[in-house]
Amino acid sequence: MSYDATWQEETARLSRVLAEIHDQLDEARATLRHRKGQVITARASMWEDLPHQIQDFEDLIEMTQNQILLDAQEREYRQAAAKVRRLEKMAYSPYFGRIDFLEEGAARPEEIYIGIASLTDQARGEHLVSTSGCHDCHTPFKVGPNGPEPDMARALSGHPEGMELPPPPAAVGPWTIAVTATNTAWSGPWGVSFTANLTPDRETGLGEWTRDDFIQTIRTARHRGRGRLLLPPMPVAAYDHFSDEELEAIFAYLQSLPALKNRVPDPIAPATPPVQG
Ligand code: HEC
Repeated sequence: MSYDATWQEETARLSRVLAEIHDQLDEARATLRHRKGQVITARASMWEDLPHQIQDFEDLIEMTQNQILLDAQEREYRQAAAKVRRLEKMAYSPYFGRIDFLEEGAARPEEIYIGIASLTDQARGEHLVSTSGCHDCHTPFKVGPNGPEPDMARALSGHPEGMELPPPPAAVGPWTIAVTATNTAWSGPWGVSFTANLTPDRETGLGEWTRDDFIQTIRTARHRGRGRLLLPPMPVAAYDHFSDEELEAIFAYLQSLPALKNRVPDPIAPATPPVQG
């Protein structure tokens, strides 16, 4: 079977699986609500009965039985909650399937991961990425026949690992920012920042990120929405104007890119802290 046919068939199959997971999730959430209601009612009625309950041995037995019932209901509630968590993990993880595609004559199969990333609106994401300047900073520039241009073979893989850099030039007068020819290492009052690898490589890129990690990074200007603050010149304030759906589409597109292994260095703090005011 051809690459495209395999891809289309697997995508269709996995989108059916995803729809099934979502149906089950709806059902599991309804069960969870029901169980929660039961536990709340059982607890409330136990407390109501309590003052006039323990008057004789019969009451004590009744109370113990109620307690056993409540324990069982709480156990069922915890099981229902665990099921919801399991299904949510499947429904919202960027990948839940893998195709090992062996091209004729190739020594090793190509591993293609499929998940929401490949099932949501990638084309829209691609359009947003290409019109929002992501390549300008996250794809290293090389010198082509018409001058410097993004090296699309390394699309969105960030500042190239292992690139030897001398210390940045001192800022003089009104000239405060310097950038390497690759457009990926930026020196300014914040120190030196290196553009991130946005491809889905699991170790060096966004392969382990969830959709929410990505959205929260833009919303909070923090790594995965909870780590350190992002440094300039990443235009997070501008991108905060994207809607959740737009960010979702961008993330879907990023996750569909070939995963490129490229470990971007950590930023370097400024030699002297920037002068305030
Ligand atoms: C003007 C340059 C510039 C542009 C344009 C730009 N970025 Fe960035 N981006 C950076 C830099 C520099 C960093 C690293 C900041 C740091 O280390 O704190 C970064 C970091 C990020 C991070 C955080 C990665 C992490 O591990 O926390 C994400 C996500 C990101 N960029 C996505 C995008 C997307 C998507 C676009 C286009 C819509 C984009 N960037 C456009 C410069 C840029």
